Amino acid sequence: MGKKLLLIGQGGREHALAWKLAQSPEIDKIYAAPGNPGIAEIAECIPIKVEDIDKLLDFAQKKAIDLTVVGPEVPLMAGIVDRFQAGGLKIFGPSAAAARLEGSKVFAKNLFKKYGIPTAEYTVCDKLDDAYACARSFTEKGKAVVIKADGLAAGKGVVVAQSWNEAAQAIDSMIKELSFGKAGEQIVIEECLTGEEVSFFAISDGQGFVSLLAAQDHKRIFDHDEGPNTGGMGAYSNPPVYTPELHQIVIEKVIKPVIKAMAAEGCPYRGVLYAGLMVTAEGPKVLEFNARFGDPETQVLMPMLKGDLFPLLEAAAQGNLHDYQMAIEEGSCVGVVLASAGYPAAYEKGKTISGLDILENDTLVFHAGTARNDRVLLTDGGRVMAVVARGRNIAEAIDKVYQEVGKVSFEGMYYRKDIASKAVSRKE
Ligand code: AMP
Ligand code: GLY
Repeated sequence: MGKKLLLIGQGGREHALAWKLAQSPEIDKIYAAPGNPGIAEIAECIPIKVEDIDKLLDFAQKKAIDLTVVGPEVPLMAGIVDRFQAGGLKIFGPSAAAARLEGSKVFAKNLFKKYGIPTAEYTVCDKLDDAYACARSFTEKGKAVVIKADGLAAGKGVVVAQSWNEAAQAIDSMIKELSFGKAGEQIVIEECLTGEEVSFFAISDGQGFVSLLAAQDHKRIFDHDEGPNTGGMGAYSNPPVYTPELHQIVIEKVIKPVIKAMAAEGCPYRGVLYAGLMVTAEGPKVLEFNARFGDPETQVLMPMLKGDLFPLLEAAAQGNLHDYQMAIEEGSCVGVVLASAGYPAAYEKGKTISGLDILENDTLVFHAGTARNDRVLLTDGGRVMAVVARGRNIAEAIDKVYQEVGKVSFEGMYYRKDIASKAVSRKE
């Protein structure tokens, strides 16, 4: 009999996961909690919030779900994996102890140091005066310094300070004003690295791993990486900066040691290893690890996976990946996020979305903030959806995706015009 899957989350990342998992011949039913109108086209959406672990567990037990896949970090850190396992259910993702790799920057940095994993030099502080002194030791030499809240801070917990004033402001907001609550009681102060950023994704079962591929996100709202940070305005897979030589170094110096380190610390890591890396002149250094798939990176990773994702996630959840491999498509995939006017500040909702019906058959659309009113699709968030296209190379994927984006419209639609263009200019 076909298997039943529960997917937790409601963003573009989860739509891309649902799209990929729905192609598995092993699955005959996907439930999504809470899902979104795009996911509703391929799965049954159930109105349970991602934080409501009691209700999710109850639902999964009643429906005899064969595998639960968790999209966002919040339920992971709240221990959803531990709870499901204690309830006898299979679930893909790290335990709460293992999710500290993302959830606590102090835990992660100390782990990198103890096990010789390359990362920026850092100091952990919990007292105002120590933090000031440490930050000043960088800024008085004219160097930028990076201030990070220990815990989750909805993407706002990292400040790259160019001056003493900026550094002091970040420290005050974290330690004195406790703007992030407990997440800012301890902070990490570290050297500012320079280079190109790239993310690499792998799946681990606690001992071994399967490589997926690399991607680059575009965090700022405006072209040329200007303006405030967002949840991500676009991404592309297979960036040229991530060469086969770099990949070998990342595997030997980062991925394998992290998996070993987590096991040695008594919290073997099962789940997505999302390594945020800076490619510096001295080689790759870890900026952070996330304990989940990236958003919007997943939207450009899933179309690149040739094989079936379901047995891979199931094997990882059971700790038996062995010599599983995932074949990857040639070429590249580019995704452009369509956002509401005003995002990431205030924006309006409820605008009618048109043009999706005239897209090419092989163009993908992954919903993030949409709502359906009868048969009409409306905007319902800051990041509304991602339009994704594949190409034999990045330039082809860029041309294709922007042609397709041009067919979609809603009042106030905003998108970046330069997604992946860095990759093309780099090659010239
Ligand atoms: P994190 O959440 O630690 O990855 O930090 C978020 C973003 O801040 C990263 O994607 C980088 O752009 C930037 N960042 C973090 N740490 C550093 C660092 N040591 N040097 C330069 N940029 C950094
Ligand atoms: N794309 C950034 C993230 O998922 O954290």
